[in-house]
Amino acid sequence: MASDVRIGVLASGSGTNLQALLDADLTPGRIALLVCNKPGAKAIERAERSGVPVAVLDHRRFDGREAFDRAVVERLREAGVEWVVFAGFMRLVTPVFLGAFPNRVVNIHPALLPSFPGVDAQRQALEAGVRITGCSVHLVDAGVDTGPILAQAAVPILPDDDLDAVRARVLQQEHRLLPAVVQALAAGRLATGPHGPYLVGFDPAPDAALSPVPPER
Ligand code: GRF
Repeated sequence: MASDVRIGVLASGSGTNLQALLDADLTPGRIALLVCNKPGAKAIERAERSGVPVAVLDHRRFDGREAFDRAVVERLREAGVEWVVFAGFMRLVTPVFLGAFPNRVVNIHPALLPSFPGVDAQRQALEAGVRITGCSVHLVDAGVDTGPILAQAAVPILPDDDLDAVRARVLQQEHRLLPAVVQALAAGRLATGPHGPYLVGFDPAPDAALSPVPPER
């Protein structure tokens, strides 16, 4: 049995994705530290309630992105973190951060990448008139939501949906997909295939309507 695989979570806001991770069985993974850049964010209270150590590092108190990243990396290393999860973390990281955890940082994005990267992805999808949107879990690289995609979950956008309805439906899938991916990573199931990294034995799109190919007419 692999010993504890320590996971560091970074969050900036309400922390419902953090809560989904706290509520899930991530064995052999274990959340060892929450780093939050926003004093007073609800994510902090969620971690404290679960007995997870918290480091609040207000990015405004650092002299630039690199200095902030160095401080975050130091706390993650002190906690023995092997995997880093961005769960609603609203900061771009620098090579200082990615160099410390190469191919070990994942992010959850509320759209089916590469569509609708960046902020307000749910609004982008709604305004684009797409009928299916969803969420993506990807490895973080130096770009904005551009790293290799590990898994996605799809949801419909219904004719009478408003933005809140789309956000809620996507968030529901985020809370299912992120813990499943994080547990698979902790269990060492990341592999490299012809199309890039993938999770061994993990259905990357469990909701896809994979209807069988119609029989020859
Ligand atoms: C989620 O929609 C996530 O996809 C995006 O930011 C939001 C964070 O929500 N990156 P929460 O803080 O986890 O509730």
